[in-house]
Amino acid sequence: MGKSYKIGIIKGDGIGPEIIDEAIKVLDAVSVGQNCNLKYTEMLLGGAAIDETGVPLPDETIQGVNKCDAVLFGAIGGPKWDKLERHLRPESGLLGLRKAMGTYANLRPASVYDELVNASSLKPRVVEGVDLMVVRELTGGIYFGQPRELLHDKAYNTMIYTREEVVRIARVAFDIAMKRQKRICSVDKANVLEVSQFWREIVEEIGKEYPEVELTHMYVDNAAMQLIRDPRQFDVMLTSNLFGDILSDAASMLSGSIGLLPSASMGDGVGLFEPIHGSAPDIAGQGIANPIATIASASMMLRYGLGELKAADKIDAAIKRVLKEGYRTGDISDYGAKEIVTCTEMGDIIAEYAAK
Ligand code: IPM
Ligand code: MG
Repeated sequence: MGKSYKIGIIKGDGIGPEIIDEAIKVLDAVSVGQNCNLKYTEMLLGGAAIDETGVPLPDETIQGVNKCDAVLFGAIGGPKWDKLERHLRPESGLLGLRKAMGTYANLRPASVYDELVNASSLKPRVVEGVDLMVVRELTGGIYFGQPRELLHDKAYNTMIYTREEVVRIARVAFDIAMKRQKRICSVDKANVLEVSQFWREIVEEIGKEYPEVELTHMYVDNAAMQLIRDPRQFDVMLTSNLFGDILSDAASMLSGSIGLLPSASMGDGVGLFEPIHGSAPDIAGQGIANPIATIASASMMLRYGLGELKAADKIDAAIKRVLKEGYRTGDISDYGAKEIVTCTEMGDIIAEYAAK
């Protein structure tokens, strides 16, 4: 008998529901062949939760996720909720969920599919073969630091890291590097910020436990430039919450579309898996969203969250195959398209190939 897993599903807002439906389709197709049984429970977050319950992160969602083996999430937010106070906005719901789940390590891979090497805004010779992993600290730093306040004539936030927070995220990055090319670049602003000096010292200390891994450090401004100048120099980029937010969006453009890139957020408990893009309210409901980032997030869920490596490999291979065969959603339609497909059609084809 195969294994049975409880999967939390948070569709969210905008294109969230459309892309999640395709990911479920693919998960169902692949799980049959791999003899594992996935049971889904839907939960509310973000704008959808505000409309239904008045708050972006209902208690039922916090309780619900902890009963799951993994959670797959679409996207949240939209103009409808933009005028709300910060703590009532959809984004606060997502940050609260990450904190409640303790998913302190956010893995954001950025790689370039050979077929889409022309889709990048950079020259093909610069992005060919890029395969890097941003390891972003996700539940600390300036996103959560206290004190924070918005006053009439000033406002402030606090960038704070504890030793424990830096140690654990550094270990995640070194463990990942050991399975990759064994190179880490830790990104900080240690020439200006005490919190970065502290970060750097601790990363150095942890590095001693991993003598096989080559550790370098880079200031974040330089790292932003180097990502665009010569992205192949990076294997694992280890960085804090805010810097990782910015660098991972920049890295996503190497691959040609933000609609391609998945992420995994891991901690000591249940993992949260989501595309790195937002809810794209401008294209919601039109059936033109690219579901690949979410389908690839479902693959990361199988790989990192459930340990179902074969099923994950099947999905990754199916994504490569559809791209090779020239199926393209609108966002990448200018690059090697033999057939332009809708969100649903893309899900259908990937599901068919992943099932084989
Ligand atoms: C991301 C997003 C979020 C973040 C927002 C929506 C709160 O930009 O996941 O990168 O800043 O972490
Ligand atoms: Mg972001």
